[in-house]
Amino acid sequence: MEVFKIRGGKTLSGSVKASGSKNAALPLFAATLLSSEESILENVPDLSDVRFMAEILRELGSEVEKLDRTTWKINPTNIVHAAPYELVRKMRASVCLLGPLVGRLRRAEIPMPGGCVIGNRPIDLHIRAMERLGAKVELKGGVVHIDDKDLRGNSIFMGGRHGSTVTGTANAIMAAVLAPGKTTIDSAACEPELSDLCAMLVSMGADISGIGSHMIEIEGVESLQGCRHRVIPDRIETATYVLAAAITKGKVTIRDGRTDHLGAFLNVMSECGVMVESDGSENLSVEVSEFGLKSFEAITLPYPGFPTDLQAQTCALACQADGLSILTERVYPSRFMHVPELLRMGAEISLEGASSIIRGGRPLTGAPVMASDLRASAALILAGLAAEGDTWVQRIYHLDRGYDAFEKKLQGLGADVERLPESEIPKAFLSQPG
Ligand code: EPU
Repeated sequence: MEVFKIRGGKTLSGSVKASGSKNAALPLFAATLLSSEESILENVPDLSDVRFMAEILRELGSEVEKLDRTTWKINPTNIVHAAPYELVRKMRASVCLLGPLVGRLRRAEIPMPGGCVIGNRPIDLHIRAMERLGAKVELKGGVVHIDDKDLRGNSIFMGGRHGSTVTGTANAIMAAVLAPGKTTIDSAACEPELSDLCAMLVSMGADISGIGSHMIEIEGVESLQGCRHRVIPDRIETATYVLAAAITKGKVTIRDGRTDHLGAFLNVMSECGVMVESDGSENLSVEVSEFGLKSFEAITLPYPGFPTDLQAQTCALACQADGLSILTERVYPSRFMHVPELLRMGAEISLEGASSIIRGGRPLTGAPVMASDLRASAALILAGLAAEGDTWVQRIYHLDRGYDAFEKKLQGLGADVERLPESEIPKAFLSQPG
């Protein structure tokens, strides 16, 4: 296994390019199955999750070819309806194959995704949407079987206890585009990744209106054609570089970083004293105000609220902001696995229910820490950039699921970050707990 070694204290400067969005690319790969023709996806991030998805599409019978670092060709002429457990269990996002398989083949067999370290992640809303479209759904031996010979448009309500579901909405849209008649999806999630999915489906011949809103209307069509589509830039990666610049009091430009996708994150940065400016051509510049970092409050909510996928990284920034900051989770109320690791670096954080209360402005010190999931990995690396001494982040395979060339991009901004074999961790550190 590999680890990251970060020697903190460098001020980041320069320019970095945001890659294509992971959470857009994964459903887009799935959506290619809706046509029997070849599609080409451009600006795809180079990530282990993307490679998993490509592997699952191959197992389903598609021909999948990586044309260059960011371009993939998918030919799904002959596909089957059952996805293999061994691959699906490795990536929860594979649940977004349900919609395309139901849409194109009228049947699907997908192993039920397991739990996840960020919290309980049920798929009841996905199943309810398929049932509203006329499907018979059965859970047998841990596998969701869907039979939908009579697929037809209907009204679907996508809201749940924690708001609307992102991949659930994607599944409903992907099944409905090939369902005869009209489908209305009320309380649809409206994340930019879903608008990107709709844009691609429209270019394949789908009839969708209300894109980007909570009410989507779809008129089913008989078939879809292949397409060439460019994945939108990754807003979570963009914001992570905003936080990296801020935590090191640096001055950074992010190319392909779109302010219009950052929603409430920008307000929180402004409250904290982080100035994020757009030059109008998708270049963001980031700088900390002359008054330094100030405490702030943020509550995670579905888009355009503050994203849960930035809560952990923003917690690292709060550790460096003077005063008491509060971060409240409304999407995954137990997504706080990064907190005990930040405590090992000297952070002062207490957890009260679904909120972390952070007393910031104290120095952090480097330590060996353990990444528990994708966004927690990024949070620990950001903390390491600001800490005194060396931070060793273990289990960075979580990071490789969602950040394209993270250490190379940080090195380009002047960070002292290395990817090393685990054997390089000093023995004295390994004997410590955690
Ligand atoms: N939920 C239900 N029932 C369902 C589906 C969801 O109760 O049938 C609940 C979830 O438990 C959660 C909330 O609804 O409390 C939102 O979950 P959602 O379904 O929107 O999440 P997701 O679609 O599984 C995507 C991203 C996640 C991101 C969430 C929230 C992808 C591939 N994944 O997951 O990304 O955290 O939306 O924005 O798009 C990440 O990138 O690190 C990541 C975890």
